Amino acid sequence: MMVETITLGRFQHQRLDFKRWIPTFLTSYKTLLTFLWIAAFASVFLWQRNAVGGFLFFGRLPVKPMPRLRPVAFNLTDFGGVGDGVTVNTEAFERAIHAISKLGKRGGGQLNVPPGRWLTAPFNLTSHMTLFLAEDAVILGIQDEKYWPLMPPLPSYGYGREHIGPRYGSLIHGQNLKDIVITGHNGTINGQGQTWWKKYRQKLLNHTRGPLVQIMWSSDILITNITLRDSPFWTLHPYDCKNVTIKNVTILAPVFEAPNTDGIDPDSCEDMLIEDCYISVGDDAIAIKSGWDQYGIAYGKPSKNIMIRNLVVRSMVSAGVSIGSEMSGGVSNVTVENLLVWSSRRAVRIKTAPGRGGYVRHITYRNVTFDNVRVGIVIKTDYNEHPDGGFDPTALPILEDISFTTVHGQGVRVPVRISGSEEIPVRNVTFRDMSVGITYKKKHIFQCAFVEGRVIGTIFPAPCENFDRYNEQGQLVKRSASQNVTDIDYEI
Ligand SMILES: *[C@@H]1O[C@H](CO)[C@@H](O)[C@H](O)[C@H]1NC(C)=O
Ligand SMILES: *[C@@H]1O[C@H](CO)[C@@H](O)[C@H](O)[C@H]1NC(C)=O
Ligand SMILES: *[C@@H]1O[C@H](CO)[C@@H](O)[C@H](O)[C@H]1NC(C)=O
Ligand SMILES: *[C@@H]1O[C@H](CO)[C@@H](O)[C@H](O)[C@H]1NC(C)=O
Ligand SMILES: *[C@@H]1O[C@H](CO)[C@@H](O)[C@H](O)[C@H]1NC(C)=O
Ligand SMILES: *[C@@H]1O[C@H](CO)[C@@H](O)[C@H](O)[C@H]1NC(C)=O
Ligand SMILES: *[C@@H]1O[C@H](CO)[C@@H](O)[C@H](O)[C@H]1NC(C)=O
Ligand SMILES: *[C@@H]1O[C@H](CO)[C@@H](O)[C@H](O)[C@H]1NC(C)=O
Ligand SMILES: *[C@@H]1O[C@H](CO)[C@@H](O)[C@H](O)[C@H]1NC(C)=O
Ligand SMILES: *[C@@H]1O[C@H](CO)[C@@H](O)[C@H](O)[C@H]1NC(C)=O
Ligand SMILES: *[C@@H]1O[C@H](CO)[C@@H](O)[C@H](O)[C@H]1NC(C)=O
Repeated sequence: MMVETITLGRFQHQRLDFKRWIPTFLTSYKTLLTFLWIAAFASVFLWQRNAVGGFLFFGRLPVKPMPRLRPVAFNLTDFGGVGDGVTVNTEAFERAIHAISKLGKRGGGQLNVPPGRWLTAPFNLTSHMTLFLAEDAVILGIQDEKYWPLMPPLPSYGYGREHIGPRYGSLIHGQNLKDIVITGHNGTINGQGQTWWKKYRQKLLNHTRGPLVQIMWSSDILITNITLRDSPFWTLHPYDCKNVTIKNVTILAPVFEAPNTDGIDPDSCEDMLIEDCYISVGDDAIAIKSGWDQYGIAYGKPSKNIMIRNLVVRSMVSAGVSIGSEMSGGVSNVTVENLLVWSSRRAVRIKTAPGRGGYVRHITYRNVTFDNVRVGIVIKTDYNEHPDGGFDPTALPILEDISFTTVHGQGVRVPVRISGSEEIPVRNVTFRDMSVGITYKKKHIFQCAFVEGRVIGTIFPAPCENFDRYNEQGQLVKRSASQNVTDIDYEI
């Protein structure tokens, strides 16, 4: 890209100079040839310009023109950006975003990132902006942590999550904003997390790693048609936001040895839609959260009204779609439908612990498919990871009103493992229309402890004794007398 830009620049000069020289030089045959050559070249160049950036020079694949989605659109190169993978473009991004911040009243502005590798340190977004990544545009996060600003801990975590005190900010960050769009022709934001993961494992970092994209205290956010990869830490973290849509996004990180690279972590967010995404990462593909222990309880902001549908996800280390374990502000009204989890350790999981407080309720899973996963459905109530010793062990979370309808699968070792406890029983769980193939024809593959609820119709594998049984017409067939029986076997 760099070379092409220079070629264009130099050529433009030649063309201008030439105009002055025409009268004297046209006499020479040689110069005439030169003239024709340059004229032909110029017309090709102008034609390309008129085709709105339709083609790059010399046999490159056509580049899709970038649509104008705001009244004003800028090109990152207008602000000195150089997409050579080496030049640091932080100032170009900042200047462009500063220009866009002046346009809010006029419908905002769009920043086009052309094909190229645009290395940058973290920068902040502004309201009413669209960041548009061309096909083959890659925003690269700088690897040296010196460039990453430190920020205060999230109030609902009270803690940097990995280290006490401040944490690194995210590569692309936003706070107190409205109307943000990050989209493109499947361009990429690449966090180059490899160095971070390595330093984390070697305990060389003094602060919690930064997410790839983090948007806090904001509303009306749309993230579509892009790829996010190799985040240092959580990939996409909307925090205390409202009205967030994430659609047709690919999120990638190595499935092993990419610690904490969760895909999407809706955290104290409401009115959220996540659809048509492919996520394969080194931790949970999705983890819905709402703060950690006493800090999350004090902050008191739930995650609610979240729809997750038409997703294909993979997680070898954790789970496809999780709720928790940080859920102290509460999580309610979450629907997960048309989900395929493949080649994973766990498919869907709710995790919590004494000390969290809060609740997880009104959770609906519909049409979920597990293909080759170790454990399908997991509810775990002893996920004892705490920010500090200040948590209140009597702050017990409530888990209730959770339903599973149309669950299919093959190659699942343990289809269900619901381990409530005497302190944290799991209430009102419904199963209907489940048939999950198994690799181990052992007993106890539907494992339960301290769970109460009902099974409607016949399901496979046969449920544990903890559930009431209803027929397809909804009539009670057999009431359970053993809701507290423990039948959990981690050996399988
Ligand atoms: C942005 O600028 C670069 C270099 O000048 C150019 O190649 C590209 O076509 C421009 N893109 C748009 C969308 O204007
Ligand atoms: C982004 O804004 C936040 C809040 O003002 C600030 O703390 C942070 O340092 C800014 N990040 C960058 C990279 O400027
Ligand atoms: C998803 O994004 C890709 C790449 O940007 C695009 O080609 C495709 O049409 C999009 N699909 C939908 C359903 O928007
Ligand atoms: C977008 O790019 C990613 C990474 O290169 C690729 O895996 C994905 O299939 C692409 N998505 C579409 C819709 O083309
Ligand atoms: C972490 O702190 C130690 C001791 O203060 C210091 O030597 C080291 O450079 C720091 N590392 C980073 C990555 O900041
Ligand atoms: C939600 O945000 C979208 C933009 O992403 C906007 O078009 C829509 O009007 C917002 N909805 C509400 C209810 O504010
Ligand atoms: C995603 O890309 C497809 C294909 O280019 C386009 O039709 C669609 O409008 C885009 N989605 C959004 C929300 O921009
Ligand atoms: C539950 O969430 C959905 C979005 O997934 C929303 O449409 C619905 O209104 C919410 N229900 C309640 C009772 O708030
Ligand atoms: C169920 O989900 C799968 C994707 O996992 C999808 O292909 C299928 O159409 C869905 N079925 C219904 C009835 O929506
Ligand atoms: C149990 O949960 C279902 C939703 O899964 C809900 O419709 C029903 O009202 C709940 N029952 C009780 C007794 O709360
Ligand atoms: C089951 O445990 C719950 C507390 O988790 C308790 O309230 C209930 O009485 C127990 N039921 C039986 C039959 O022991």
